[in-house]
Amino acid sequence: MTTALSRLLESERAAFVARRPRSRALAERSRAHWLSGVPMHWMTDWGTPHPMFVAHVEGVTLTDVDGLRYTDFCLGDTGSMFGHSPPAVSEAIGLQSARGLTCMLPDERVATVGEQLARRFGWPFWQVMQTATDANRAALRWARALTQRSKIMVYQGCYHGIVEETMVRRRAGRTVMREGAIGSALDYSQASVAIEFNDVAALEQALRAGDIAAVIAEPVMTNIGMVLPALGYLETLQSLCQRHGTLLIIDETHTLSSGPGGYAGTHQLSGDFWVCGKAIAGGLPCAVLGFTAEVEARMQCVLASRAGGHSGMGTTLAANPLVFAALEASLAHLHTETTHAAMQAAATRLEQGLLKVFAVHNLDWHVSCVGARIEFGFGPAPRNGSEAEAAMRPEFEHTLHLWLLNRGLLVTPFHNMMLTAPMLQASQVEALCTSIESFLDAVIVSEQPQ
Ligand SMILES: Cc1ncc(COP(=O)(O)O)c(C=O)c1O
Repeated sequence: MTTALSRLLESERAAFVARRPRSRALAERSRAHWLSGVPMHWMTDWGTPHPMFVAHVEGVTLTDVDGLRYTDFCLGDTGSMFGHSPPAVSEAIGLQSARGLTCMLPDERVATVGEQLARRFGWPFWQVMQTATDANRAALRWARALTQRSKIMVYQGCYHGIVEETMVRRRAGRTVMREGAIGSALDYSQASVAIEFNDVAALEQALRAGDIAAVIAEPVMTNIGMVLPALGYLETLQSLCQRHGTLLIIDETHTLSSGPGGYAGTHQLSGDFWVCGKAIAGGLPCAVLGFTAEVEARMQCVLASRAGGHSGMGTTLAANPLVFAALEASLAHLHTETTHAAMQAAATRLEQGLLKVFAVHNLDWHVSCVGARIEFGFGPAPRNGSEAEAAMRPEFEHTLHLWLLNRGLLVTPFHNMMLTAPMLQASQVEALCTSIESFLDAVIVSEQPQ
């Protein structure tokens, strides 16, 4: 049956193609030498009829190769959360770029940046990696080495990068391999336990077994829609981990949007490791791994007692001088109260605007926020990953994203997530709310979605 939604999807797809001849030509040419025509095969997940190629990005304005301009609420899915090419970071990278890109020796700024990181985020010890994936991998390996335990625990619906042992799901009461994961060496359901977020009984049961080296968790789940922690849940997680000798890895790659100290800093949450990638150096590939003094002391014991040879941790290009230039500038100019206040003000405006639109349309949809990161979903706010997953409406979301793109508004291709950069104007927030409202008029007036 042809529904208003599928008719709309077809007309938006046609409009997308008609206005982007240059992108279409590049997409056709790129097919000759790139898998699926793109440098990272999942770039086709945007769901556009063909990829949209970018010419220029600055602040929150993205211009494609056809000269079309977009207000960016996706911001590279967090990498450019502070706006594209923040001037202080661009300048620092520009100056450093003529003075050395990579040399596998500590940069002269290492001591200063260590002090800045400790002051800003509260963790006394640090390591630098190139991506959040790498930082999570390192945290998990350290956790195994420190505890002499093999298993890890994750939450149903999590994403922590392409870390193999986190590629599991909870299905029918059991941990299973995540659907769609390609070419895994092992069955990671043997190495990992997946439980539902906010379920204290399941957490106690998993940790009581005494074989879990680490829990790796986002304090707010952000990769399956958004799932907020129930009151007191994170404190319980923290104390149960302590009681059972399990290390807690807090992955703040997305929840850094909470405020200048991340979620942990804003809400006085502590753990053993703290991971942050993506926006930590203003968008330059970089991730940091923070840890406590106790963890550092235990690491020293492992280092002192291990046999010689390669630790299997750390890559050649991480912690290069370019990254240190970007980190130093980001810590001074981006991870600040002022920057976050501007982002938060725009986020509040967007949250209120969306709630108003949903109220006008008599929809019981929810809006969840973690600082400058906003997500809306269909129905009441989910309590765990399975509820969030069940509430998703892929065709509806997909059509909405395309509708917005065709009106100069870019949101993430995954669920209904938006970020508000500090330079975002009230009129741009209003334009997004108005466009979502007109989409709802087009779809819901004629029928209920899906
Ligand atoms: C919470 C979280 N951790 C880690 C990652 C991995 O980041 P990267 O792809 O930069 O390695 C992601 C990516 O989306 C993420 O959402």
